[in-house]
Amino acid sequence: MSPPIAVDSPSPLEDYTDLVTSIKAANDARPQGKYYAGFGTPPPNALKRYLAAGIDLTAGYPAYPDIPEDVAAATAFENQGREGSSYVDPAGRADKDKKALFAAAKEVNNLTKHIGTEIVGLQLKDLTPTQRDELALLVAERGVVFLRDQDLSPQQQVELGLHFGDGQIKTDSVLPHVPGFDRLGIIWDSARPGQRSFRLPWPGIPAHGWHIDTAADPITNGYTHLFQDTVPSDSGDTLWSSGYAAYDKLSPALRKFVDGLTGIYRSTVTFKNPDKPDGPPIPILERAPVVRTHPVTKWKTLFVTRQLVGLEGFDKKESDHLLKYLVDVVENTVDIQVRWHWTNNASAIWDNRVVAHTVSRDFDGERHGTRVQSYSDRPFFDPESKSRGEALGLPGWNVPAFDTEAHLRAGFQF
Ligand SMILES: [Fe+2]
Repeated sequence: MSPPIAVDSPSPLEDYTDLVTSIKAANDARPQGKYYAGFGTPPPNALKRYLAAGIDLTAGYPAYPDIPEDVAAATAFENQGREGSSYVDPAGRADKDKKALFAAAKEVNNLTKHIGTEIVGLQLKDLTPTQRDELALLVAERGVVFLRDQDLSPQQQVELGLHFGDGQIKTDSVLPHVPGFDRLGIIWDSARPGQRSFRLPWPGIPAHGWHIDTAADPITNGYTHLFQDTVPSDSGDTLWSSGYAAYDKLSPALRKFVDGLTGIYRSTVTFKNPDKPDGPPIPILERAPVVRTHPVTKWKTLFVTRQLVGLEGFDKKESDHLLKYLVDVVENTVDIQVRWHWTNNASAIWDNRVVAHTVSRDFDGERHGTRVQSYSDRPFFDPESKSRGEALGLPGWNVPAFDTEAHLRAGFQF
């Protein structure tokens, strides 16, 4: 365990106005048209957080990675050094009752029956390694955990992510990051001016809305932590949908059918096709089990969003029909979802292996935060694993399929 990182290290920049001027000048000096250059400075609360942490922004904001030249380079980037087989999930070390974590919290409130828990009265930066392990287990079980009013430096956010990722955090091949911190991605809608609107929230993005981060990577990220420093007061919520509960929503026959299927997943971003450099860009494609087993909870989860574009071994028409239904369960079943209303300096930590998420794209104002994507295991399916409903003995998880014949013979109508 590395020592705690001080948040009050002196800022190299004494004059706030000069800083804003220098960021703008650096942004304007970038090659226009490449990435999303010159769109402004971070909102004041972000600036304050960065300055307190001693982060140098004078070379411009945000920083961008070198976008891979083509899809082959992008695929190689996503594969680099991430075998996943040796990953040790911190949740596996945790006390099942999470006594150390819960004893330190003022309140622990489940926000819905099947997904989402809010912890009150705890600072993430103060957690011991034992409490971090227990938090990971809570996230793995509940899908997503929320904490408001966090005093968390960018360095402390990275450090927590390293703990969750067993030393590995994903760096993004396309999206912006905090200057000097390529493992600290920036979620900032202003980074794409004019691209989105209330009526057309996802123009040109095929896997729009509900998604799983890095679904088309060979090692998807696991514990994912979004800290929002600046949010609108009345909009910009995020919703999560439980893959565990989505699986339990399926009939026993359909569960059996989807168990062991292999899906083909596409990336949301596209890259140049090396075989046809002048042709349309193409996505990264990766195979993974449609029903995943979580390595610690051992529960089955439906690993489904619109990024799942095909089922191996099925004709496209068959695959399209089946996937349409599975996506519908994930996206449109309200009792397996949680909706979180952000406030400034709130954190959400989700297990990206077992939930899908989407923003509610109803905002016009500034919405800015930093995200750490900790790596996890390579997706796998264990036929011996159980559903969450079965493992916990939840009421109703295994009622028999609806009997259409008996329904009609009894004189009932549809
Ligand atoms: Fe996301």
